[in-house]
Amino acid sequence: MGGASRVEDKIAIGADHAGYKLKEEIKLFLRENGLSFEDFGTFDAKPVDYPEIAIKVATSIAHGEFSKGILICGTGIGMSIVANKVPGIYASLCHDIFTARASRAHNNANVLALGGRILAPELAKEIVKEWLETPFEGGRHSRRIQRIKAFEEKTFRKEGKKSGSLLIIDHPLIQHKLSILRDKTTGVKEFREIVSEISALMLFEVTRDLPLVEKEVETPISKAKGFVVSGKEMVLVPILRAGLGMVDGILKLIPTAKVGHIGLYRDPKTLEPVTYYCKLPSDIPERDVIILDPMLATGGSAVEAVGLVKEYKPKSIKFLCIIAAPEGVERLHKAHPDVDILTAALDERLNDHGYIVPGLGDAGDRIFGTR
Ligand code: URA
Repeated sequence: MGGASRVEDKIAIGADHAGYKLKEEIKLFLRENGLSFEDFGTFDAKPVDYPEIAIKVATSIAHGEFSKGILICGTGIGMSIVANKVPGIYASLCHDIFTARASRAHNNANVLALGGRILAPELAKEIVKEWLETPFEGGRHSRRIQRIKAFEEKTFRKEGKKSGSLLIIDHPLIQHKLSILRDKTTGVKEFREIVSEISALMLFEVTRDLPLVEKEVETPISKAKGFVVSGKEMVLVPILRAGLGMVDGILKLIPTAKVGHIGLYRDPKTLEPVTYYCKLPSDIPERDVIILDPMLATGGSAVEAVGLVKEYKPKSIKFLCIIAAPEGVERLHKAHPDVDILTAALDERLNDHGYIVPGLGDAGDRIFGTR
């Protein structure tokens, strides 16, 4: 530990009266190790309400002003309860070094809660050191974190949704139809129809934030206030070839949407995606783009496709798939953190051949009957 910290490494620290003394000790420790921090109080041992401090620290982290935080009250429990109510906060209450390490390596915790009435200062400093130094392991733990984030997205999305999220659309009808897609005995005709139906059903979430303008209509009884979608229709961009299977279902609901196409293949030597076709509408800057591919697997094609579309400067880009692998979600969000991913399922992992497990096999082959 030590050395000048980058801005994003800055730590937010806060305590109530019961944690005040330990906070001052931890601050000394952070200073000695060249780590920068901001103290959100409390600034003496007079009684204060811990939720106020926890909310300030947690929201400043959730808003990206700090990468991590330390909260201290008598037991650490109150602080961790409050912090964990803030979307984007993963607070871990640690009384020992093992838990501190695991909460970073496995849970990617961004807030450390400590008990000022429980921990001796020396142990508390060891815990802080271990917690700050341990990186997130990723791998199988990424999937679990993605699930938590997707749940948050679903629960809190109405309160000022940020872009760059993962939304799992787990509507019962979609889940029912997805099970039919997964079934290896489902034939080409039914598979194709269901890919189309699921894509149409998912459109409700894809278009949830479309702007509306008021329009008066006359019913047989009286005048009524109506609404119509404002602005130009969206552009669908299927990634060839499996993405084509998703177009028809969406066009049934938005028949005036424009459709671009992106063709990619994987270079057998480098395994990197190579573009062999790209045709997009020229008025993309006035439109929102939905990139379609039923399977977000390694994320290579998705990253490439989003990059190509971005060159045309659309208003926004969303990525719509039916099944996503954690590896693909991570890669796409890392390369394009501004792009929302919407999927019907987040599966377990990729196998050695880059197929999603349990997945549904090769989507292109199953849509077009080419297996
Ligand atoms: N593409 C597919 O069609 N299926 C997978 O499982 C992964 C990529």
